[in-house]
Amino acid sequence: MSELSRRPADAVVGLALPHESAALHVTGHALYTDDLVHRTPHVLHAHPVCSPHPHARVTRLDAAPAMAVPGVVRVLTADDVPGVNDAGVKHDEPLFPEIVMFVGHAVCWVLGETLEAARRGAEAVQVDYEPLPAVVSLTDAIDAEHFQGGRPVIARGDVGAGLAGATHVFSGVTEMAGQEHFYLETHASLALVDEGGQVFVQSSTQHPSETQEIVAHVLGLDSHHVTVQCLRMGGGFGGKEMQPHGFAAVAALGAVLTGRPVRLRLSRTHDMTMTGKRHGFHAQWRVGFDDDGRLTALEATLTSDGGWSLDLSEPVLARALCHVDNAYWIPHVLLHGRVARTHKTSQTAFRGFGGPQGMLVVEDILGRCAPLLGIDPVELRRRNFYVEGQATPYGQVVRHPERLAAAWEQVLATGEVRRRCEEVAAFNAAHPHRKRGLAVTPVKFGISFNFTAFNQAGALVHVYKDGSVLINHGGTEMGQGLHTKMLQVAATTLGVPLAKVRVAPTRTDKVPNTSATAASSSTDLNGGAVKDACEQVLARLREVDAGRGLAWEELVREAYFSRVQLWAAGFYRTEGIHWDSTAMSGHPFKYFAYGVAAAEVEVDGFTGAHRTRRVDIVHDVGDSLSPLVDLGQVEGGFVQGVGWLTLEDLRWDESHGPGRGRLTTQSASTYKLPSLGELPDELHVALLEHAHEDGVVYGSKAVGEPPLMLAFAVREALRDAVGAFGRDGTSVELASPATPEAVFWAVERARAAVDGHAGHGVVEGLPGEVPDRPDPAAPALHPRSEQAAHAAGEA
Ligand code: MTE
Ligand code: MOS
Repeated sequence: MSELSRRPADAVVGLALPHESAALHVTGHALYTDDLVHRTPHVLHAHPVCSPHPHARVTRLDAAPAMAVPGVVRVLTADDVPGVNDAGVKHDEPLFPEIVMFVGHAVCWVLGETLEAARRGAEAVQVDYEPLPAVVSLTDAIDAEHFQGGRPVIARGDVGAGLAGATHVFSGVTEMAGQEHFYLETHASLALVDEGGQVFVQSSTQHPSETQEIVAHVLGLDSHHVTVQCLRMGGGFGGKEMQPHGFAAVAALGAVLTGRPVRLRLSRTHDMTMTGKRHGFHAQWRVGFDDDGRLTALEATLTSDGGWSLDLSEPVLARALCHVDNAYWIPHVLLHGRVARTHKTSQTAFRGFGGPQGMLVVEDILGRCAPLLGIDPVELRRRNFYVEGQATPYGQVVRHPERLAAAWEQVLATGEVRRRCEEVAAFNAAHPHRKRGLAVTPVKFGISFNFTAFNQAGALVHVYKDGSVLINHGGTEMGQGLHTKMLQVAATTLGVPLAKVRVAPTRTDKVPNTSATAASSSTDLNGGAVKDACEQVLARLREVDAGRGLAWEELVREAYFSRVQLWAAGFYRTEGIHWDSTAMSGHPFKYFAYGVAAAEVEVDGFTGAHRTRRVDIVHDVGDSLSPLVDLGQVEGGFVQGVGWLTLEDLRWDESHGPGRGRLTTQSASTYKLPSLGELPDELHVALLEHAHEDGVVYGSKAVGEPPLMLAFAVREALRDAVGAFGRDGTSVELASPATPEAVFWAVERARAAVDGHAGHGVVEGLPGEVPDRPDPAAPALHPRSEQAAHAAGEA
């Protein structure tokens, strides 16, 4: 066992502690960025002037009328930018654009004594636009070949031969929608300038170092002039990995130009209309199975809807391609990836970071093909699992596949899946208008940033003379419990009670050059760094102690008087990983996180309304550092996944009317989120036992994102229930999200299916046959599902 993963006796890690801020969260005492406004005198408020067009040239901008509005102090425009007028790292995101690229794009920002004054000022700004043609839907972008960024390919074996050797070949199209993050706290920044011109930005950001970099380049300053602090976030979910930078830069610019603190907080409507979301994807595929239902080959083209700029679309696409296999061995693989450019918000990271979209493709394929193969989907999935020694399409050997098998068996056993399948069948036989469905799905999710350089972290640990400990680390807290785990790691390493340790807010002047708190890796990375710093201090203290066994406080005091350094900077980098982003191959992930879910649902055939009756989950978090936190992550991730797959329905106006390109679901009244009411009636979550992960901090595994994909079980159970409305062996196409409306139409198709094909998307073809692209002009009952139904050309 490695030194990093070995746990001492009476460790503080492993204890089921509440979140370090739980009491503050529930009493309203926890401070978020925007709460600081009320503690800051003379604050100015920023309000955007947003484009009403999805694509247009700004031909005139007159800020003078705004300046006549009482309380307006300044209007920020491109002319004010002393540095680079760009909010991104790809230099394709002008902060003050000459050409607007989506409805809601901020042309300029108005600063006012009050938010109301700024808002009235924004209304008064006069902007003339010359509208340009806009590409709104993903399929339109594909047809117009409107792409951006690289076109990665993952290839293994000979997919042509694999398909030719298959006994069954199916082809089809899978489409899935994006998702709004809907963090409770919208984007927020508060910027100040001190007497020396030092810029200090409080920001709700998952990536303080990058926010610092962007603020510095917009202001034309070096990074050491800018400090960014993140107290905590009221949720980030990936939405604050890249998107906060521009808002922070606007606030900082305002502060520099006016000499007053500037606060920028988006209203919910602004947040929803201005900021990026999960990428929707379109996938076209062709798959081969042998006589036994084993996958022989998969050829697919995945196109993501990137929105107006690249943002994180390329790495999201890379992770999608690296997860198309999910838990399944596919000998011959050819995967193409593309990012479409559309005139919408710039889509970005969202829990899973493309992984869910990639995995949905293969789960959709298996769910649609199982009836056509005449194999029970539970069996079909299990039969295709990776076994020891097999590698992913990008060349990484899948370690511990037996853990996934163990989780699978545990869910089948504790969930009494076999018995309940019979109950479901009996229920369905007795009820013509209500059907139940049951499904089991696996998760395999790679942990580490694909981009190897990001897999590093730093920490700063101070031991004060009285023996109390203060830790800083590079990660941010967004509710996921990272700080709780870091406190436990420090207490364990130093061998002190938890109460001796405090964690300070994340700041770029404490730990520099940090990676985003993302990829679920923050505990692995920052935990490694905190442990390293603690060990450095401990090694010096051991020398002072010289075997005497002094009590902690005494030892610390003596060390101080002996002039021994009581603080240390820690560092960690993940060993043994590498990634060739051109060849799309290597060993990008330190390990895989595994999970299995079984879900049972009931569908009303008259309305498509559905309810989740029971869910059983076994999830692999290694040796848990903090079981309550991990349980919360598994439950929260799962429910967020259920929202994405079955409820949340982002709609953009794709008409050619005046609202073209507008997000029509701009608030909680039109965008359905999961709530307590949608929780399964029964939810059983177990953490996989005997799951120690060698080479990771105290034997744990990352947990932030992987559980989201457990929600596939609910989608597949819905498919199973819909299928029960049709004849045996009906292949069901289900739109994603499988909203009640989408389920209703799927039920209608299942009932109408005479040949076992509910929809025409899964078509058995001849090996070598390339399916046509869907016909976007085809008549549509429901736009998304119908496009999927016009998939393939038959042999
Ligand atoms: N949990 C809560 N409560 N709030 C969040 O914003 N973000 C998720 C996940 N869990 C999130 C969350 C995402 S997208 C990631 S990448 C991880 O937490 C990041 O934190 P970690 O690396 O500490 O797991
Ligand atoms: Mo998470 S999507 O990696 O912030």
